[in-house]
Amino acid sequence: MGDKKILSIGLVCLDIINVVDKYPEEDTDTRCLSQRWQSGGNASNTCTVLSLLGDSDMLICFILNDFQMYKIDISLLLEHAACSFPASVVISSVTTGSRTILHMNRNLPDVSVEDFSKVDLSQYKWIHWEGRNADEQVKMIERAREYNSKQEEKNRITISVEIEKTREPLYQLFPLGDLVFVSKDVAQHFGFTSAAAALKGFYGRLRKGATLICAWAEKGADAMGPDGVIIHSDAFPPEKLVDTLGAGDTFNASVIYSLSNGSSLQDALTFGCQIAGKKCGVHGYDGIL
Ligand code: ADP
Ligand code: FRU
Repeated sequence: MGDKKILSIGLVCLDIINVVDKYPEEDTDTRCLSQRWQSGGNASNTCTVLSLLGDSDMLICFILNDFQMYKIDISLLLEHAACSFPASVVISSVTTGSRTILHMNRNLPDVSVEDFSKVDLSQYKWIHWEGRNADEQVKMIERAREYNSKQEEKNRITISVEIEKTREPLYQLFPLGDLVFVSKDVAQHFGFTSAAAALKGFYGRLRKGATLICAWAEKGADAMGPDGVIIHSDAFPPEKLVDTLGAGDTFNASVIYSLSNGSSLQDALTFGCQIAGKKCGVHGYDGIL
């Protein structure tokens, strides 16, 4: 069990980050404080943070270099030679720490059930799905559940899902995870005005025994397990807020890392907020520990 890995399934893209003093007015010509390229996408960010935390055994030149640097296992990488690489242009404001993302994915397909059928599940202790092509992801998770049903408890894969975007098909993932991350965006879309209200409102959609987590930016994060008790961690704001890009992915990775190493839900939630808070105080991911 000790040498089993964490697999992260979701987007990998290029983030072209423009650091500005303050968010620009429309139709103005602004000089950036700095510009950089960074590997992005929820799956990539999650892997980067897991690697920095010490779990480096997981899942175009610049991106591959980055993956190599963070010792991210890319043995499951699939090549789509005829597709263009997805990219985001990000405006990162140092006055507020806000990140405004313009994302473009022209034709790179998401991971399919067929791709996933080639994965040797016995190598993994945890698989995390960023909710994307949910209809396919439902079938992938079914495969993982079927695998689990034939395993002794100690060899079962923990299944987590992230429901971040307000897209109807993603909501079918609620009952599928052992651990479900639901975003503030989705919660607000459903009319909830706090993480606690969202947990109470959504918990009934989960499978028996599952845990629901909702992060709420500078308000920290709340979680609810099968006992129905809401637990909370305050945020750990950095001395100076500089960059919130990937704060949610950092939070998810840190919670997964913590739980997969046997921590309690309260400790995992607190750890997630601590590491995500540190991330908000630095550009990129180096320096979050
Ligand atoms: P994202 O918008 O990237 O999905 P969230 O708003 O879900 O990120 O925040 C995830 C976690 O990151 C929060 O639970 C919190 O711990 C931390 N975080 C985000 N924004 C801030 C902030 N402004 N100050 C301190 N911590 C923050
Ligand atoms: C942050 C992020 C960025 C990427 C964008 C895609 O959560 O993954 O790295 O550009 O979201 O939506």
